[in-house]
Amino acid sequence: MSQLKVMVTGASRGIGRAIALRFAREGAQVVIAARTASALDELAKEIDAAGGDGVPCQMNVADLGNVEAGLYRALEATDGVLDVLVNNAGVFAIKPIEEMRAGDFTRIIDVNLNGPFFCTLEAISGLLASERGHVFNISSVAGKQGFEGSTAYCASKYGLRGFGDALRLELADKGVRVTTVYPKATDTSIFDDVPGDWDRSTMDKPEDIAEIVWQTYNAPAGADVDDVDV
Ligand SMILES: NC(=O)c1ccc[n+]([C@@H]2O[C@H](COP(=O)([O-])OP(=O)(O)OC[C@H]3O[C@@H](n4cnc5c(N)ncnc54)[C@H](OP(=O)(O)O)[C@@H]3O)[C@@H](O)[C@H]2O)c1
Repeated sequence: MSQLKVMVTGASRGIGRAIALRFAREGAQVVIAARTASALDELAKEIDAAGGDGVPCQMNVADLGNVEAGLYRALEATDGVLDVLVNNAGVFAIKPIEEMRAGDFTRIIDVNLNGPFFCTLEAISGLLASERGHVFNISSVAGKQGFEGSTAYCASKYGLRGFGDALRLELADKGVRVTTVYPKATDTSIFDDVPGDWDRSTMDKPEDIAEIVWQTYNAPAGADVDDVDV
């Protein structure tokens, strides 16, 4: 089998980092995207050491110009082919509605919903060039259920669910599968600045989500997995 070409957004830490390392163990070329260049450079070395080929790609998924430039560089590195796009970059915040300003809402929508759209748009030629293309959208349990103080986050994750469901129909005859993943609380830095009593010891681990993504990609042809409730 030829070397897998994978791109993971939000790869500098947490779930994205774990997914990038999981595909590295399969010998994949992994384009790792996020804003923090130093973390991407470190991860690229770890990917190389794990048997893959790490390609750092600094970009802000909320900025279309940035994504256009990032995907141009990514597809140059992968010879125009992308087998897997993981739309994982995301931000989380809790704020009651009466304290929210417009910017609190749009910041979350920009990253969590516009980001996956921009990345998919710019990656589509690479996905269509793959013999087995697959888009993973990392939504959340908050993409199926409301939570207090989470109007923006829930709107973004419900939106991502709709985006994935429609995209799946559009790409079904073109050999590109689309899976939406709905993790529940997972022990990552996403909780670092969020007020609340989070018991991280009972949370899932990023590696659990990474294993699920890999197993879903590796499922036999015809065994399409549309949604994964973790
Ligand atoms: N942890 C959970 O409990 C949980 C549960 C359900 C769903 N999720 C979802 O899983 C995904 C990953 O979350 P996580 O827990 O791993 O979070 P995390 O540890 O905070 O990591 C978030 C990642 O996204 C990147 N990122 C944030 N804003 C970005 C932007 N504008 N452009 C590019 N990259 C950006 C960050 O890198 P830089 O800061 O370097 O850009 C980082 O690599 C998110 O979509 C989140 O909503 C998480």
